[in-house]
Amino acid sequence: MRLANCHNFHDFRELARRRLPGPIFNYIDGAADDEVTLRRNSASFERCDLVPNVLRGVSEVDLSVTVMGQKLALPVYCSPTALQRLFHHRGERAVAAAASRFGTMFGVSSLGTVGLEELRKAYSTPQVYQFYFHKDRGLNRAMLQRAKEAGIDVMMLTVDSITGGNRERDLRTGFSIPFRLTLAGMLQFTLKPAWGINYVTHERFSMPQLDEFVDMGDGAMSIGRYFTEMLDPAMNWDDVAKMVREWDGQFCLKGVMSVEDARRAADIGCTGIILSNHGGRQLDGSRSAFDQLAEIVDAVGDRLDVMMDGGVQRGTHVLKALSLGAKAVGVGRYYLFPLAAAGEAGVERALGQMRTELERDMKLMGCTSVSQLSRANLRFRAQP
Ligand code: LAC
Repeated sequence: MRLANCHNFHDFRELARRRLPGPIFNYIDGAADDEVTLRRNSASFERCDLVPNVLRGVSEVDLSVTVMGQKLALPVYCSPTALQRLFHHRGERAVAAAASRFGTMFGVSSLGTVGLEELRKAYSTPQVYQFYFHKDRGLNRAMLQRAKEAGIDVMMLTVDSITGGNRERDLRTGFSIPFRLTLAGMLQFTLKPAWGINYVTHERFSMPQLDEFVDMGDGAMSIGRYFTEMLDPAMNWDDVAKMVREWDGQFCLKGVMSVEDARRAADIGCTGIILSNHGGRQLDGSRSAFDQLAEIVDAVGDRLDVMMDGGVQRGTHVLKALSLGAKAVGVGRYYLFPLAAAGEAGVERALGQMRTELERDMKLMGCTSVSQLSRANLRFRAQP
């Protein structure tokens, strides 16, 4: 299988599966507990039908949106994700380059593997910084200050990860950073020598957002342990209100799901929220962001920008979310599998396919701009 044969999410996933050592593929692909929410995230789009309009004159389609004060050429952005240089040696550099080519926003994670300053200097496309709230308040202040000095456009605080999700695939393989694997996990690495050669012949793995503060040194730190030991489960609305004031710019919460929380986010001055269940990786059984979207847009859509992520694999998924009132839609695995499969060329191909699908689907819907999408174009089917 080659890049030229990858036509959709599933093709890229398959190519990534062939290229990556099992533990790494399963880290990306997997989710919490029984992975019910993971499956439901994509399935929830299928409960919703599109009702197109015809004969509207649709030769030119404008896909641009403005979200959190950022003008994007596409209504889809690359959500921040951790450890990208583990998936492909160019990691965030490849994702930022591709996002920039499509005029859209990308995110850099606290657990990113390329420094936010380097990416800020290299690309002018809007950059999000994904923030984890640590027990160490000095570390939090320093991280905020650093992001401000770097010229980050949007601060995105993840609020659904104050403790680690139960990722049983990772427990099985022993996946952790840096590597400490079970014997079976180690065997998997020897089966993918090309990945191994690339990994050892490129810049040493590091996490420049945290290296200065967190000792992940020779002891292996699992993602679960990082969440559980380093992050502050005592984090509350007062802490976040203070952060919002300190940041004094575009600030959104990622992982809000309830109407009550959405209202509180608006009350403390957040300019956006992202409905998300962390790709099903945290609380299994939680509702899909898409299913929850209309209720949240109705409650707070006039006070802040509502975005969503989770399970997005197609242009039509994005159109459905936009029709319900999302201002933009985030993708994670959608670009991570292409990254793992073929680096920058992979991410570029995936974003290109997304743009082509969106343009085609907008025309088939009878819409020439995102603002023309509305709930009049959707019908929900009863749950099977
Ligand atoms: C994860 C974190 C790191 O889901 O976002 O693995």
